[in-house]
Amino acid sequence: MKRLAVLTSGGDAPGMNAAIRAVVRSGLAQGWETFGVRRGYAGLLAGQLVPLGARDVGSISQHGGTMLGSARCPDFATEEGHRTGLRQLEQRGIEALVVIGGNGSQRGAHALSELGFPVVGVASTNDNDLYGSEITIGVDTALNIALEAIDRLKVTAASHERASLVEVMGRHCGYLALLSGLAGGADAIVIPERELAPDAVVAEISAAFERGKAHALVVVAEGAHYNAARLERYSREFHGQLGFELRVTQLGHVQRGGIPTVADRLLATRLGAAAIDRLARGEHGVLVGLSKGEVVATPLAEVVTGEKALDLRLLDLAQMLAM
Ligand code: F6P
Repeated sequence: MKRLAVLTSGGDAPGMNAAIRAVVRSGLAQGWETFGVRRGYAGLLAGQLVPLGARDVGSISQHGGTMLGSARCPDFATEEGHRTGLRQLEQRGIEALVVIGGNGSQRGAHALSELGFPVVGVASTNDNDLYGSEITIGVDTALNIALEAIDRLKVTAASHERASLVEVMGRHCGYLALLSGLAGGADAIVIPERELAPDAVVAEISAAFERGKAHALVVVAEGAHYNAARLERYSREFHGQLGFELRVTQLGHVQRGGIPTVADRLLATRLGAAAIDRLARGEHGVLVGLSKGEVVATPLAEVVTGEKALDLRLLDLAQMLAM
């Protein structure tokens, strides 16, 4: 093989740049030429490919986001989109594609692979909801940002004897809320996988007040039915029963924009290099991810149908420790 392309797709995740660097330089080490696709699948459809050399990917790992740009591209999620993408690659003599992204991106990767094109996926999403990797690129940074925000909110909440309700990202998955809530010492954690009813959330806040705590903390996943906005509306009715005054913070995209942590840069570097290693060994149609500390490859067909389970014992642990 001589020519390779790499793209980042879906929500950007801190660490994507380190993965691009590893793909480009590992490719060069194999003697391959690498092209970067701008703006994910949208750029692929539009034929926006640029050659990437070793210098082009120098000093990018310390930056969040993705130097290639990313996009959500509904046009690619059609049969016509897949065929157009394939045509763009073939017209340029590209023989393999590395797709750095989460669920939607890997569905696109699988579709191209089903059409016979060699594709390897790299597990990257701050939601950590991708089957085939215990942890994905961007999660560690997002968690650290959420935790820093939680720590800060606890300080001001304690000064004013308030309850703080923090909503974190994660789409339909409660992983970020669960882990940041456990690490941040939340009194209640609300996640879609085992949702705490709103009256129970109110009860936890008022119980914290009754126990004489200076503040209460609730961490809620954006994907919960009772997200921050709904919980705030609900709790207004029970204002007198809360004990504390309530303040709501929605972290949103702040979590995605951080400087990648060491863990994210290392994971991205290992996975980017592993994608090239698999291609060099003639393996494709797989996602590279992490399992028990080791890089593993999972067929994309399994990745797009598999569901990643959340360890709900951590929720029990958080509940037990909230006293
Ligand atoms: O999938 C990553 C993610 O950050 C989710 O946590 C969030 O729901 C979504 O992307 C936001 O998407 P967008 O950046 O397109 O608004």
